[in-house]
Amino acid sequence: MISSPSLELVRGGFERRVSSYEQGAALQRSVAWRLAHHCCSLPLLEGPCADLGSGTGLLSRAIAQQRPELDLLRLDACPALLSQEGAAALAMAATPPASLIWDLNQGLPPELQQASLLASSFALHWLNHPVEQMEHWCQELRPDGWLALALPTAGSFPQWRQAAARAGVACTALPLPEASALVAAAEQHLDLHRAERLRFSQHAESGLSFLRRMRDLGAGASPSPPLRPGEWRRLEAHWPSQPGLGGGGKLLRWEMLLLLGRKPPP
Ligand SMILES: C[S@@+](CC[C@H](N)C(=O)[O-])C[C@H]1O[C@@H](n2cnc3c(N)ncnc32)[C@H](O)[C@@H]1O
Repeated sequence: MISSPSLELVRGGFERRVSSYEQGAALQRSVAWRLAHHCCSLPLLEGPCADLGSGTGLLSRAIAQQRPELDLLRLDACPALLSQEGAAALAMAATPPASLIWDLNQGLPPELQQASLLASSFALHWLNHPVEQMEHWCQELRPDGWLALALPTAGSFPQWRQAAARAGVACTALPLPEASALVAAAEQHLDLHRAERLRFSQHAESGLSFLRRMRDLGAGASPSPPLRPGEWRRLEAHWPSQPGLGGGGKLLRWEMLLLLGRKPPP
């Protein structure tokens, strides 16, 4: 079982960085756009559609831009992130999108029974039991309903784990679910149309600047206690340099799983 930080810790992290989240969320934005593109032409039947763990709405906005008739309910445990999007809409004299403050560790709300589309990006891995929650999402879909999902998985951050092991300090990265476990569980419930493992690399001048970027997104919560200053220095000293990047360039690799599947008729 993967241990996760408490909801208070997760919510507090995102709340503190609410105004700067989107500025730093380049990877989240591009993944949201890619997932939304796959949702563009799905044959959706009647039923609720939602963005689970919607945050400031990067995914639901990307879907609305590519498929304007589709209005997704935004669900998130963090009211500050949800209201960010509502405030932006009001500033443009537009109707704020429908949203619901909801803890996804409790399953889905009754409003989403027989859902036609459940979409989620960069959120499932924050839940206590990601595989079980994903299976619950599949069960709540209507026949011919769709799950569109993207999240970082356990193959992420090999450089961080290597540096921590060599430095003899804890790797404080959020524990991430195995892509193979998610795919195997999704196959029990859905006809999978896509199960892509994508790799993204970020570059920086130091290992610690990756971790600062995550903290600046509000995504720094971890079930492990924080490192002490001496441990941070050892971690940095052991972060592998990337040949070819020059100037002591450092790399952080993300492994993302993108899943698209349809619930078969009974
Ligand atoms: C990295 S943000 C991603 C937001 C958005 N989907 C995106 O792609 O930009 C993770 C989101 O998951 C939400 N979240 C984490 N744990 C949650 C929970 N238990 N219930 C509902 N939302 C949760 C956070 O509040 C945050 O908005």
